Amino acid sequence: MDKKELINNGKVKSVYTTDDENAVIIEFRDDMTAGDGARKEVMNKKGSYNALISTKLFKVLEENGIKTQFIDLPETNVMVAKKLEMIPIEVIVRNIATGSLIRKYPIADGTKLDPPIVQMDFKADEFHDPMLNDSIIKALGLATQEEIDELTEKALKINEVLSEFLLEAGIILVDFKVEFGKDKNGEIILGDEISPDGCRLWDSETLDMLDKELFRKGKDNEVMDAYVEVYNRIIPDGEKIEL
Ligand code: C5P
Repeated sequence: MDKKELINNGKVKSVYTTDDENAVIIEFRDDMTAGDGARKEVMNKKGSYNALISTKLFKVLEENGIKTQFIDLPETNVMVAKKLEMIPIEVIVRNIATGSLIRKYPIADGTKLDPPIVQMDFKADEFHDPMLNDSIIKALGLATQEEIDELTEKALKINEVLSEFLLEAGIILVDFKVEFGKDKNGEIILGDEISPDGCRLWDSETLDMLDKELFRKGKDNEVMDAYVEVYNRIIPDGEKIEL
């Protein structure tokens, strides 16, 4: 399947149309950004590691009854995916309080959140991704109440499945962001990616960070080792690809 027209040049991924009107090609680039794109570096093979990690996690979710946009991975950093009309909401699930939650609210870093928090942010860099609530989502016409409930339910199910899967690999799923879209039938499907770019992942023994937070903290020389570590832990030896 060949790339046709570039339809979205995101901060770290480029999306192209294909000959099939129901499929797109998503190219995972080696760019890494922080602070709404204010800081940007190129990290060797990052695109491939993220595409491979995302593919694995999408497959685990599919096996557990959660539909994703994944179709195929013809190259290590190139995904063929169902074409979706993306909903501009970042659905964030938090199992442990950290990051922006502790900066904005009186809650201690590391507090366990049970039940987990589901938060929805408006995906709009120019407004710095402000937090939404149900009324704002409906006023902006981003989703109906029924769809908000469906996004919440799906995000919690993804959390349940991935928390268990990652823990078996010695990784705590601290929090993560997912994005959804609608397919040609209007069905809400998990899109985008699930990778260390959009998750906080901690080693379950040492609590060391294994995700983009290292880059946010300026530890640029450690971040790719962390991504490789996540890859090595979640991909069985027989399935590993030499990059
Ligand atoms: O920064 P904050 O604590 O709100 O992030 C919560 C989770 O959502 C983190 O795992 C982070 O990686 C992810 N996130 C993201 N993209 C954003 C905002 C947050 O992937 N624009």
